[in-house]
Amino acid sequence: MEIFEAIDNRKTIRKYDDYKPTTEEVKRIINSARLAPSAINMQNWKFIAIYNKKVKEELANSVLAAYDRILSNLNEEDKAPVERYKGHSTFFKNAPFIIVCVEKFAPSFMSGVLEKAGIKDEEIKLMRPDSYLLSMGGAIENMLLSAYALGLGSCWMVAPVLGEDGMRKTLNLKEDEKIVSILAFGRPASDVSDKRSPKKELDEIMEIIE
Ligand SMILES: Cc1cc2nc3c(=O)[nH]c(=O)nc-3n(C[C@H](O)[C@H](O)[C@H](O)COP(=O)(O)O)c2cc1C
Repeated sequence: MEIFEAIDNRKTIRKYDDYKPTTEEVKRIINSARLAPSAINMQNWKFIAIYNKKVKEELANSVLAAYDRILSNLNEEDKAPVERYKGHSTFFKNAPFIIVCVEKFAPSFMSGVLEKAGIKDEEIKLMRPDSYLLSMGGAIENMLLSAYALGLGSCWMVAPVLGEDGMRKTLNLKEDEKIVSILAFGRPASDVSDKRSPKKELDEIMEIIE
């Protein structure tokens, strides 16, 4: 498939049919994360593919418990937006497979040096965007595009990360590992609509300095 065909036509899919993608397809997708660029080529990541229904359900239950804990401490007015997030946070349990994206913590060499140079924390944050998280974003987009090329739909999800604490126990993560996204994959259900999310015009987001 031509790369622009995937970029132009990929869209988020949240409903899937019963097709179970093969482990070869899963490996092909994760291999495209492996090959992604990363800050100083650190490759500080790990990808856990899960078909198992019980494990997916256990993860989803951790997410629901985390949302419920937060909701129980909010007044009625603040509850509504959180309920909306909650509603978009656990459908991954119905996806034929998911990939849990795990970032491995490593201290940033440059941030350490800037600290030694007496630069304040807030300034360091502006000078040093989170390179490891940015690298993960690139790896994730590679996976979404590869899935599209294999005829699979996908959804990149951050809302479930609210239940990180419980999910990390299910997945036996080490102390220096942190879940940053869950990706849901599957062949798009036959009744998925053709509608695309509206995108801003190029002029709105672009500037060219000649
Ligand atoms: C960082 C990130 C987090 C997202 N988190 C969620 C999520 O938790 N739940 C969900 O249903 N969709 C999630 N999405 C999907 C977006 O809603 C979707 O990409 C956006 O509406 C644009 O639609 P498109 O992907 O079809 O272009 C997320 C997307 C990104 C990039």
